[in-house]
Order: sequence, then C-alpha cells, then structure tokens
Amino acid sequence: MVNESSWSDAEDNQVYNCCCGFFFFLLELERVAEAAGIFNKMIAGGNCQPNVVTYGTLVKGFCMKGNNSAAIQLLRKMEEGACKPDLVAYSTIIDSLCKDTLVDDALNLFSEMMCKGIAPNVITYTSLIHGVCKLGEWKEATRLLNDMVSRNIFPDVRTFTVLLDTLCKEGMVGEAQTVVEMMIERDIEPDTVTYSSLMDGYCLQGRIDEAKKVFELMLSKGSMVDAFSYNILINGFCKHKMMDEAMMLLGEMSGKGLVPDTVTYSTLVDSCCKMGKIGDAQKLFSKMQACGQLPDVQTYAILLDGLCKNRQLSTAMQLFREMEGKRFDLNIVIYNILIDGLCLAGKIESARDLFCGLSSRGLQPNARTYNIMIKGLCIGGLTSEAVKLLTEMEEKGCSPDGYTYNIIIRGFINNNETVRAMGLIQQMVERGFSADASTTELIVNLLCKDKVDPALLPLIKRE
Ligand SMILES: *[C@@H]1O[C@H](CO)[C@@H](O)[C@H](O)[C@H]1NC(C)=O
Ligand SMILES: *[C@@H]1O[C@H](CO)[C@@H](O)[C@H](O)[C@H]1NC(C)=O
Repeated sequence: MVNESSWSDAEDNQVYNCCCGFFFFLLELERVAEAAGIFNKMIAGGNCQPNVVTYGTLVKGFCMKGNNSAAIQLLRKMEEGACKPDLVAYSTIIDSLCKDTLVDDALNLFSEMMCKGIAPNVITYTSLIHGVCKLGEWKEATRLLNDMVSRNIFPDVRTFTVLLDTLCKEGMVGEAQTVVEMMIERDIEPDTVTYSSLMDGYCLQGRIDEAKKVFELMLSKGSMVDAFSYNILINGFCKHKMMDEAMMLLGEMSGKGLVPDTVTYSTLVDSCCKMGKIGDAQKLFSKMQACGQLPDVQTYAILLDGLCKNRQLSTAMQLFREMEGKRFDLNIVIYNILIDGLCLAGKIESARDLFCGLSSRGLQPNARTYNIMIKGLCIGGLTSEAVKLLTEMEEKGCSPDGYTYNIIIRGFINNNETVRAMGLIQQMVERGFSADASTTELIVNLLCKDKVDPALLPLIKRE
C-alpha cells in the first residue's frame, strides 16, 4: 500500500510523478480498485489533478473489469471538472457497453457525445455495429453503416470483419463471401481474423471443403495463418470426425513454428474421446504437457468424461485425484461426470457417497446431478430411493423434467413394479411431459402382455 504522507505533498513534483507512475503500474497489473483509490487521493490532494490521460486510463481499467457503472461515473466526474471527456473516454465506454450487449445505453452515450460536438471515428462505429450485430439487429447495423459513410468515416478491416463474423454465425456464409469481395474491391485487405471468421462460418455449415479452400488461400498469402486459424480448421475437422486430417494439421503447426495451445489440444482430446479412441486422447493429454501447455479444468473434464464413458473408472479416479491435487476449482459439472461414471460402472454405493458428500464440498446438486443419480439407482434396482430423490429434487427447487420422469418410469417397469410405473406416468402427463420412444416401447410391451390397463394408452400417445 501507498504511504499517504509520502506523496500527498502536492508541491513535490517528483512525488507526484512517482505516484502517477504507480497509478499506471497498478492499472497495468489490472489492480483497478487500488488504482482508483490513488486516483481519488490525487483529486483530493488539490494541486496534483489527473489529466485526460489519467482519466482515460482509469476509464479503460474499469471497462476492462466490466465495471461500466464506475466508468460512467468517472465520465460524469470529468464533465464536472476542468478535464472534459474526449473521444477516447466515450469510445471506450461505448465499446464496453456493446460488449455487454447494453446497446441502448451505448447508443444513448453515442448521441450524448455527438451533442457535445465530439465526432465519432471508425472505432466508435465499429463497436456499435458489433453490438447491434450481436443482437441480430441487421437494420440498425445497416443504418449505422450508412450513417458513418455519410460522415465520411469509412469502414475498415475491423468493421467488415465484424459484419462478416456475424453473417457467418447466422449461417449466411454466401453473404459473408460477398463482404470479402466488397473488401477486396475497396482495397481493404482481409486479415487473419476476417479469413478465420469465414472459415469458421464454412465449418459451422459443414462445408469443410470450402473452409479448407479459405485456409489454402490464407497459406498462399504468406504469413497469414496463426494458431487461431489452425484451431478453427482443426475444430472443423474434429466436428466432422476427420481425425487424421486434424492430427495432420497439428503436426503442420509445429512445422510452421506455431505453438498449439490448450484450445487446440482440448479440441483434439474431446474428439478422440467421442470417437472412443481413449488411448489417443491420453497420449495427446500427455503430449500437451510435455510441450509445456498446461491442461485447464476444461481439458481435464473432457478427458475425465471420456474415461468414464469408456469405462476406465480407475484411470478416471486417478485423474480426479490429480485435479484435486492441483487445487482446481471443481464445480458440479466435474462431479456429475464422475457420479455418472460410477453409476455406469455399477458402483452405486460410491456414486451415492460422492453425491451425499457434495454439500460438504460446498456444492449443490443440479437437475443433471439428480437425473444421473436417479438413473443409477433405477438401474441398480433401488427404485424407492430413486423416488425419494425425485421428491428431494423438487423440494430443493430443481424441477424434474420429462427426462427425469422417463428414466424413473423405465426403472419401475424394468423392475416389474408396473403399478407404481402407471402412477408416475399419470403424474408425468399431468405435468405436461410425455413418454419418449424407449418408455413407450416398454409400455406397449406390457400392454401386449396384458399387464397394463389399456385405459392408460391414450396418455402415452400424447407426444
Ligand atoms: C466498480 O468500481 C467501484 C469504484 O472502484 C467499486 O466501488 C465497485 O465495487 C465496483 N463494482 C464492481 C461490480 O466491481
Ligand atoms: C421381472 O419379471 C420377469 C418375469 O416375470 C423376470 O424374469 C425378471 O427377472 C423380473 N425382474 C426383476 C428385476 O425382478
């Protein structure tokens, strides 16, 4: 902490500079609250008033922390003082509001800024266009585009990329391709982000060949591809189960001096797990660590799930202990994976222990946790306990859904508890859920064996 007496002497310029330096240093460390504390002392100190740069930097700091209201308050403080807010201060806050999809607030601030005679620039407009695009407000995006051009402010590569990225995410890849052509017509060279967005658009549409063509175009332009663009294409290949191609790209990256990151490896590990190639997944997991990329909790969760689903429980438990050892913040998602794995392996006792121990770890089961446990109990023939959990989840505010009812009804039928199953079917239907295909099949089988009151038939056909 700063010793107040050492810098509050405003006469001492050196101390002031030092204090200012410390203020910027704290902001660089993203210690915004402490920087704000010093800033307030600067104001209160009289002679050492912050200037437009100091204000602007603190505004940026607040925005970076997502504290828009503090940033706006600071803007208001600027208006009161001698140091009026400038384009940078306004643009920074407008951008931050847009990122949080508070576009109306951003547009209000934009009008306010214009009324004060502060002219927006291409950055201000691009932030706004980004904001409205994220909300799917195309008309507003077009209006802003026309507005900026009418003020002789021309869209740059970032503006176009924002438009193109939105089009791609909306599945309008053809239109996105047109944007690229427009850019080239205007001598605005599409950059790595532009092409990567386009590639991602094609991947999302399942048009891998087109994505590959964009990638090859990028390669032909020299030093354009980076780890980010590789990740997009690797993800595209993985999603379409083209593991060989994905692995080839991974090899290519190293050849180009690009470092595959946690995202690259997590994508590949996930894909291997989903394809049941658990050995390959483990190899990649080791390889990433050998290459100095630390798996994050997400990567661990992917592998843990893969191990559980592929019935390698002891390895999964080992991995879980490793996660505990690393002091990861283990959330309910991780426990759901493990409880599911234990149930799948028929270790219902251990699953129950873990489930009951959740609260001692400061965690609350969610609807998914209950569904997993109920399914496990039903498979283990412990239907009465499953029903208890059904009640408990309701009491704890996790409403059972159609899936919950279907698993428990199937559990009863499979355990020859037809009458109780019928009761639950009625309850399920009353709540507006219906039997899914597997449950219906079981009920129809019972009907054939004359074990069900045919009067119930209309209930299950309400799908
Ligand atoms: C925003 O910043 C102000 C001023 O430093 C602080 O009092 C407030 O707690 C911050 N709010 C959040 C949500 O971080
Ligand atoms: C249910 O009944 C069938 C036939 O009556 C029997 O073969 C089966 O083992 C029973 N299942 C259970 C879980 O009791």
